[in-house]
Amino acid sequence: DEASAPLNYDPAHHGHLGHKKVTIVGCGQVGMATAYALLNQASAGTIALIDAKRERLEGEAKDLEQGSAFHQHIRILASDEYSVSKDSHLVIVTAGAAQKPGESRLNLVERNVSIMQSIIPKVLSFSPNAAICVVANPCDILTAVASKIAGPTLPAGRIFGSGTCLDSSRLQSLISKILNLDTSAVQGYILGEHGDSSVPVWSSVRIGGLPFLKPGEEPGEIHERIHQEVVNSAYDVIERKGSTNWAIGLTNAFIAKAILYDTRNIMPLSTCVRGMYGIKEDVFLSVPCAVGAFGIHRAVQTWMSPSEQRKFVETAGTIWEIQKEIWN
Ligand code: 2OP
Repeated sequence: DEASAPLNYDPAHHGHLGHKKVTIVGCGQVGMATAYALLNQASAGTIALIDAKRERLEGEAKDLEQGSAFHQHIRILASDEYSVSKDSHLVIVTAGAAQKPGESRLNLVERNVSIMQSIIPKVLSFSPNAAICVVANPCDILTAVASKIAGPTLPAGRIFGSGTCLDSSRLQSLISKILNLDTSAVQGYILGEHGDSSVPVWSSVRIGGLPFLKPGEEPGEIHERIHQEVVNSAYDVIERKGSTNWAIGLTNAFIAKAILYDTRNIMPLSTCVRGMYGIKEDVFLSVPCAVGAFGIHRAVQTWMSPSEQRKFVETAGTIWEIQKEIWN
């Protein structure tokens, strides 16, 4: 009881990370890679895991807990009930069908829309103030669907998709390998769709802060090849090991840090781009976003070359064609 508790000890708020809570919905490969990255980066005080496959989930939670001598004090909760997510600061949604080898992300839309319909209301009922990061594919469309399910009273920016944060990491990683540099020396954005029609914004690529392209230089064949390799990345990995998980897990932990610590970092995330580049529909695509507590604080309509902008707008049209079928 309270009187006998030393120093008002509250087991729920133990340690310096105590009050940060992240829930991961869907604890397959991607969810668990996310949990593992969060755990190792000590970004949260509590990680709640939700999955319908209860037995497997309990196994995952126990396995993580058994290593607790080697990570900072982080509580692991696990349940098939959403009450476990109560009062989360961030909810990461990875649940859903994943691509089979050769299958495109857009193919998953029907299977995963209904999953969103069951998840989002429950998430919001237990954590009405949480930021919600949609990771499941097709990421942009499912983020739009999740936002529609949440309704217009939820502030814009609270629901967003991990989007091309991963694609941008893939780009940076490839360029750094070519130049034999550390990836942190390379900055640059892939924007638009998380998937086949993503837009590499070559004008944004910087090496150690210096422009990659010379003034007036147009991207050429080598740039095209690098982007193609980014687009093929997931297919390549899925072909070999059945799914992708580590890179997206690290991406999610990176996004989580910005929200939990209110860092106001800038990263590409999927958000509603209506009004940008003349787009008139509620389509979600990645643009650079300032991120802090509660999610996206500001989305930036950055300069793109005419051809990049054309591709971005074209993708918005393609995505809307698919989205409008499920919109009404
Ligand atoms: C990825 O890009 C499949 O969307 C997942 O790794």
